[in-house]
Amino acid sequence: MLYNVALAWAIATAIVCVEGMNEEALLDALRVLTRIGFWWFVGAWVARPLHDLARNRVTTWMLANRRYLGLSFAAFHLMHYPIMGTIAALRGAGSWWDEYGDFVRPNGGPIMLAITIMAATSWNGAQRVLGKTLWSLIHTLGAYAVWSLFFAVYLSRIDDGVGQPYTYVYLATLVLAMTLRLAMAVRRELRVLMAGTDAPTSTRSSDP
Ligand code: HEM
Repeated sequence: MLYNVALAWAIATAIVCVEGMNEEALLDALRVLTRIGFWWFVGAWVARPLHDLARNRVTTWMLANRRYLGLSFAAFHLMHYPIMGTIAALRGAGSWWDEYGDFVRPNGGPIMLAITIMAATSWNGAQRVLGKTLWSLIHTLGAYAVWSLFFAVYLSRIDDGVGQPYTYVYLATLVLAMTLRLAMAVRRELRVLMAGTDAPTSTRSSDP
């Protein structure tokens, strides 16, 4: 986890050193870090259904390290804070808000907060304090919100005619990941129904 924080900062610093301390360099850094973080998020998101579908050493590792995958996503994605903060300092708070307020108010801000809360509560003690139900609710809804915003951002780029080849790859990955999750959740419920018994807690569809 700390390794990923250091790596994210190193990448951002390297980009700013090469391009100079200006808004475009900071946005470049943000884009690169968000694109890397995306894959950590997908890894955490599909760990359970992938393991259910094709149990092997890789999926076993992914499942056992879901927290690490999620925190690695947070390490990269939460770089939005210092980068956006620096841009706000460079252009002034009012101008920053004029530029980004429409995105921050309804979507970006609340979902950044959700990611922050998920990262802050990703240790066993937090799960004990919050209780399993509330903890699962926060992490499940939060992950779906992150998925939705990733999807909305990349879809809007295609709608706006600024989609690049990688945009399609990211969108397809999101669709595949969601399909896998839903399909495996349905399969689990069907199995429970057919067996006429409850599935073990760790394999219920509410598992984040
Ligand atoms: C305070 C809230 C946020 C602000 C101000 C913000 C701002 C930005 C900005 C300025 C960019 C660069 C846009 C460009 O390409 O010119 C960006 C990239 C991006 N952000 Fe955020 N963002 C916020 C939260 C989020 C959240 C919560 C998500 C998703 C969970 C997200 C997902 C993305 C994605 C997918 C990109 C594009 C990366 C790419 O180029 O592939 N952002 N963000």
